[in-house]
Amino acid sequence: MTDEHGDREDPLAWARDHMPIHESLAEQYGESEPFDGYTVAVASHLETNTGVLIETLSRAGAEVLFTPSEPQSTHGDVVAFLDSYEGITAYAEEGMSDEEFAEAHHTLLEEEPDLILDDGSELIAKVHESHPGVAEGVIGGAEQTTAGITRLEAMDDEGVLEFPVYGVNDTPMKHCFDNVHGTGESSLTNVAITTNAILSGKTVVVAGYGYCGRGIARKARGLGAQTVVTEVDPRKALEAHMDGHRVTNMAEAAEIGELFITTTGTADVIRGEHFEAMPDGATLCNAGHFDVEIDQPELAEMAETVTHPKEGVTRYTMPDGRDVNLLSDGRLVNLTGPYSQGHPAEVMDTTFAMMFEAGRDIRETDLEPGLYAVPDRLDRGVAERKLETLDATIDEPTDSQREYDSDWRETDSGF
Ligand code: NAI
Repeated sequence: MTDEHGDREDPLAWARDHMPIHESLAEQYGESEPFDGYTVAVASHLETNTGVLIETLSRAGAEVLFTPSEPQSTHGDVVAFLDSYEGITAYAEEGMSDEEFAEAHHTLLEEEPDLILDDGSELIAKVHESHPGVAEGVIGGAEQTTAGITRLEAMDDEGVLEFPVYGVNDTPMKHCFDNVHGTGESSLTNVAITTNAILSGKTVVVAGYGYCGRGIARKARGLGAQTVVTEVDPRKALEAHMDGHRVTNMAEAAEIGELFITTTGTADVIRGEHFEAMPDGATLCNAGHFDVEIDQPELAEMAETVTHPKEGVTRYTMPDGRDVNLLSDGRLVNLTGPYSQGHPAEVMDTTFAMMFEAGRDIRETDLEPGLYAVPDRLDRGVAERKLETLDATIDEPTDSQREYDSDWRETDSGF
């Protein structure tokens, strides 16, 4: 099969077919080219869905510079394909070391982008820390994940942000679908593919009952697993309880869990005392942004031998003979496993449409530097496009309903 890039197969073809919102954005903005004259830096997991976002930005006039947001989630064929476009430049290679990954970010930032569409605040943190002159020239940014928002909040609190940034992760059109359903399905799918183990009947411990954790826990239970949730927030713990999961602390969960999945966004959630208590054959993985949720240095230190019984699986055998299996080196299990493709394209269609719209909108604002909520009209607009692609219609409030909703007087409303 050939495409406009010659005789190479088009690695984005399948994702493009499943990202109709992007096609509608490209159709709407392909002529007016709102990004014309802007250099847009994109940091994200470099798989096919991100490729479609990059292509759509380019079709809307942007000069795009792209780089990974995780060193191990890059697909080389996608990078090579995009890099062959005029106006799109890769700062990425498959299988980069942590040092090469950081170096790529610094090299990209030296090109002085106007806008930054970020994941994990990888570029926004670095531009402020190491390239202050470049940060001054950035018009605005957008951040797509929870971990990045946490970093941006810290930067905003310190008053160091040099430009306005939209917190895309916090929009309903992002976290209600990407975090809950995307992470939920793709994490469990990749655990199943990597281990070839059945989830039904297993005791699955999910650390953190935020958007990602609740998606994973609910879907694991749907597959027949016995789910256990650990939390530090009493309200989230109660929500997990009322949703039907067993709630306990990690010390107790460690003794009964067969599969552990961390989704907290913080460090050392599963550590030495927990590895000590785990049953033989326990499997551990992480779906949070950074590879710090499972204390791997401690695990390596405790183990007598370390082997690789299967691609994507590292087995730590303890002095007492128990095996503890770690998937994907504790990195994002849905994105860095041997067969990982990340979230389904349909889900990333909404997330990346929000990033596209956030980038387009922030160009036109005169916001002071800081972290901002994405205007509701953009979120609603993406939801409407998505409904259109599903051929689904919804009701319009009638005049009498609007009148009823806005009338608080007891006498008039007939209470
Ligand atoms: P969230 O803030 O909604 O949930 C995190 C939950 O973890 C909170 O309920 C918090 O109380 C809990 N928590 C914090 N410390 C804990 C501890 N020591 N033990 C147990 N629970 C603890 O965040 P969200 O949106 O669920 O994201 C979680 C992580 O997943 C972030 O790092 C985010 O960037 C990442 N993420 C990963 C994706 C993927 O593709 N794998 C997609 C989207 C987000």
